[in-house]
Amino acid sequence: MMKAPTAVYKERRQRLCDKLGTGKILFLGNNHSPRNFKSNYYPFRQDSSFLYYFGLDLPNLNAIIDVDNHAAYLFGDNPTIDDIVWIGDQENLESMASKVGVDKVLSSSELDNHLSDGMHYLPPYTYDHTLRLRQYFKQEPAASLELIHAVIEQRSYKSDFELAQLEKAVEYSTVMHTRVMQHCKLGLKESDLVGIANQVAYEHETVLAYQPILTTQGQILHTNEYHHVLEEGDLVLFDGGLEVKSGYCADLTRTFPASGKFTPLQKEVYNTVATALEKAVNLAGPGVAFQELHLASARMLVEGMKAIGWMKGNTEDAVTTGAHTMFFQCGLGHMLGLDVHDMENLGEQYVGYAPPHIKSTEFGLKSLRLAKALEPNNCITIEPGIYVIPQLIDKFRAEGKFMEFINYNKLEANRNFGGIRIEDNFVVTKDGVRNFGPQLPTQAEQIENLVQESLYQV
Ligand code: GLY
Ligand code: MN
Ligand code: MN
Repeated sequence: MMKAPTAVYKERRQRLCDKLGTGKILFLGNNHSPRNFKSNYYPFRQDSSFLYYFGLDLPNLNAIIDVDNHAAYLFGDNPTIDDIVWIGDQENLESMASKVGVDKVLSSSELDNHLSDGMHYLPPYTYDHTLRLRQYFKQEPAASLELIHAVIEQRSYKSDFELAQLEKAVEYSTVMHTRVMQHCKLGLKESDLVGIANQVAYEHETVLAYQPILTTQGQILHTNEYHHVLEEGDLVLFDGGLEVKSGYCADLTRTFPASGKFTPLQKEVYNTVATALEKAVNLAGPGVAFQELHLASARMLVEGMKAIGWMKGNTEDAVTTGAHTMFFQCGLGHMLGLDVHDMENLGEQYVGYAPPHIKSTEFGLKSLRLAKALEPNNCITIEPGIYVIPQLIDKFRAEGKFMEFINYNKLEANRNFGGIRIEDNFVVTKDGVRNFGPQLPTQAEQIENLVQESLYQV
């Protein structure tokens, strides 16, 4: 795997020790996760914080940092002859550990002897970790808030090495999106295009960072079904990002007409979303609260939908009362890094929120993952969208909601419109934000041109 230099891991652990001052920290690495029987497992993914502090991308490893003695211990086992027969040999652990600045390597069976009450550890997100923590400490896992904050404090600001990795992830993902659009053709299935996406992933020795959303049902925010045939008039929403060997991810979305030509209504909605993206990008920068970007984008969406005829009334009031959530039910974006929703396992309220921002419980804002003020070297997505969800129209209408702001009759005629999202990835700079990678087109005409290239050969 591509690694940061040895000194980087030592320095990261040193900074963590400096922050905590005293105590011991337990980092649980991930293990294989079986699909249906023990030796048939899902592709392995190391825990991102383990990767960040120890850089070792292998299952069955754990680590302890003894803060008071500035010592790091790695627990794991070299392959047995049976392992070598079935999965091959590997570089020995001592050698791998020395490359990440760890010189104390102990066997896995030693871990128990090094556990102690009051150790710091991060919140578990797999049952495997939950069960192990219960077994180790004879109580329900109680993650250390101090450690959570210290890790977020480090991982939120990307180094030049990390920025270069993200740049690469976005560059390759841009190739993937371009290829998918160029191969789109009526009569194909969504799954044919998922095949193209996977081909690009393998060509670059990467993996898809999350199960891609590639759908004619773009209004379903996280659908993972791919069986629809592409027909005239369909919009295709493709939300996909590649993860490079070091673990850094991209998260890009484009929405394109399956036929290569948007209908006039599709183009109006598309341009509304593109304008909302542009607005947020222009406003974004250090000191600007992401929640303000979210609301500014929402106002642009409302303006556009008033022109289309789906909304009416005062724009500011519409956003204040939440009427835009009929169409924009989620947040404008999130942090990006080793995780596609970076550090979400540590708690959204800690990663994305800081006083005066408090996580709302209201429909819409409750799904805003990031609200706090941006700072240089934060990496983020910006991803406005318009999603027409027939069941939500029915619900809000039946409840008499937002009558002042929604043109229900007009909207009813377009209840099967679908959804459009445009999503790009940025690093916050000293005075704004910079888009990673070569820019993937956002203009409607550019998108149409890519689809019209029709490279698909039967
Ligand atoms: N790919 C999921 C998201 O955009 O947040
Ligand atoms: Mn995203
Ligand atoms: Mn996405």
